[in-house]
Amino acid sequence: MVRTTDQDYSDVLIVGAAGLMMAMTLARMGIRPTVIDAAGYESHEYGRADALQPRSMEVMQSFGTIVDQLEGMGKKIFGRAFWEMAGESTRRTALARFFPPFLDFDKDYALTVRQGIIEQVMIHDVERHYESFEVQWNWEFLDMELSNIASGPSNVTIRQTQTGEMRKLTAKYVVAADGGRSSVRRWASKFGVKLEGENVPVTWCVLDAVGLKSNHPDLERLSVLRSSKGIVLVIPREPINGKPSARFDIQLANSKQEATQEEATRLIKDIFRPYHVEWDEVNWWSAYEVGQRIISQYAVRDSVFFVGDACHTHSPRAGLGLNTAVLESHNLAWKMGLVLKGMAVPQILSTYELERHGVAKELIQMDRRLVEIYAGLEKQSIDDFSNAAEWLSTLHTFQAANYAYQAGASIVYPRTLLTAGPRKRNQAVRIGKPDVIVGARCRPAVVTRLSDSVPVPIMSPFDGRFTVYLLVGDLPTNDALNRLLELDAFVQRPKSIFSRFGSRLVGKPSNARLSALLRPTSNASERIIPKGRELYSYIYDDIPQATAGYHGPRIPSYTRPSLRRWGAPAASYKITS
Ligand SMILES: Cc1cc2nc3c(=O)[nH]c(=O)nc-3n(C[C@H](O)[C@H](O)[C@H](O)COP(=O)(O)OP(=O)(O)OC[C@H]3O[C@@H](n4cnc5c(N)ncnc54)[C@H](O)[C@@H]3O)c2cc1C
Ligand SMILES: *[C@@H]1O[C@H](CO)[C@@H](O)[C@H](O)[C@H]1NC(C)=O
Ligand SMILES: *[C@@H]1O[C@H](CO)[C@@H](O)[C@H](O)[C@H]1NC(C)=O
Repeated sequence: MVRTTDQDYSDVLIVGAAGLMMAMTLARMGIRPTVIDAAGYESHEYGRADALQPRSMEVMQSFGTIVDQLEGMGKKIFGRAFWEMAGESTRRTALARFFPPFLDFDKDYALTVRQGIIEQVMIHDVERHYESFEVQWNWEFLDMELSNIASGPSNVTIRQTQTGEMRKLTAKYVVAADGGRSSVRRWASKFGVKLEGENVPVTWCVLDAVGLKSNHPDLERLSVLRSSKGIVLVIPREPINGKPSARFDIQLANSKQEATQEEATRLIKDIFRPYHVEWDEVNWWSAYEVGQRIISQYAVRDSVFFVGDACHTHSPRAGLGLNTAVLESHNLAWKMGLVLKGMAVPQILSTYELERHGVAKELIQMDRRLVEIYAGLEKQSIDDFSNAAEWLSTLHTFQAANYAYQAGASIVYPRTLLTAGPRKRNQAVRIGKPDVIVGARCRPAVVTRLSDSVPVPIMSPFDGRFTVYLLVGDLPTNDALNRLLELDAFVQRPKSIFSRFGSRLVGKPSNARLSALLRPTSNASERIIPKGRELYSYIYDDIPQATAGYHGPRIPSYTRPSLRRWGAPAASYKITS
């Protein structure tokens, strides 16, 4: 018996807890998504993805304190070490920083903290903006009837995995964040959606060791240990259950079906020789074959969208699965939020695929090459040290070439509806000095606000509003002031986009004060504002109310996220409901 009630409508249905980043973003914009997950939350406590990279942390920092919290529970990885394990001649062959500082991140390291913790922190964050929020654990996506009208509501059938109870939900948008074996993707095959690519016939095993004991000196860094027996990647972890822990990632000789934890353990210990390594328990492990695949299209009729592993699968070698899913979710969510609020045309949703498909393709290529390098290195004989130097240099060269991508610093979106500039297609638009590239990430600068000299980090807390920065050059010496005042008048016109949404200008200097402040002077020591720091910022304060398409309760007023810490970070985080 399938039942439907009025409560079963939501603007956005997210299938898979991995879409929590979407829920977080939407909740801040006043939209109340429904999140279902086929698994029970207990099964999400351990294992799976294990690290946040700089760009994901940067985006998450705009959500207030969640990164601080995760940092309190995770482990910062600043270094990489490479080792030749060869009996008497065992040696460290290289030591490098995880990410070079010139990438210009506040957090220029990888933070290892397991997916279960990240999910819990995100759930708490959504709850702060959407009180009755709950992930509907143990509910799986079964089927869907897509609306014939563009972004009209679709009917979705879901099933309780334990009781078999069926329910029907109606949603305007459905987001498939249901992982590598996505059921939504299977459903979408009738629209021509498929996963393209192939498997590399290599089996890898990942194993989380809790209560680690070892005399190897580099287990606080990410280490690659290579011996004639094989290669093991050691990833230092957050303490698990209060104990020092690490993740081991190794290539196995057996097929995925035949792989056992015992085989993996024996191999790890062999590779570690002459060092010792042991642990109290393995609390999670998994064996997998590596496949680099990518979805043929990211959306069905602009109503169903795919994010994360549902649209690309690859090895965990570069630690990018969760990070890519986080960035995709954020990209899609703010656009969906604006469309649902009537602030943007639905066409901007197509930029999601235009922007993210290329990034995923790069990821797939990079991962393939990385897996090939590891597999190739494996075959070479350890006795030949000239050869060893060669493969190490291959790995180094590769990693040096890919640091920026791994960190999330090198992404430049192509020209779309949102990144259009006055230049030719495929040509990055650069503004100012140093270059601000349209479609690329903005660096974490602090600027001085002209009206009151307050230093303002340009990455302000995210709440769905835009901050417009005007980099107008040297105010006193050119006609920048006049242009600013013209713009000010333009913005304040009754029919401007700003006034249409009932916004208010904050921190606006009165024209008289502004003029006095910027009185042209040829005497440099009379300048009040240091050269090169001029900035005028408009901050619009109100979020328009939702449009007719929004059926959920209205938010009476929108408050900025408080920066108060909720709860002190603990060394080990117990996940409870
Ligand atoms: C066994 C395993 C091991 C992994 N190991 C690593 C690793 O070592 N390092 C690393 O970086 N990444 C790893 N990952 C990948 C990492 O978890 C993902 O890349 C990351 O979480 C982003 O992917 P995702 O959220 O799209 O998918 P997932 O994390 O797989 O999440 C998909 C979610 O959807 C739910 N779901 C599935 N089907 C349905 C359905 N029909 N209805 C409702 N919900 C559904 C699942 O329960 C799950 O919670 C691993 C993933 C798995 C499954
Ligand atoms: C969804 O279900 C409702 C009620 O049963 C029905 O009126 C509507 O046509 C259905 N929509 C689609 C897209 O099938
Ligand atoms: C420039 O301004 C300073 C401070 O007002 C003053 O002391 C100085 O004499 C001025 N110089 C010239 C060349 O006017």
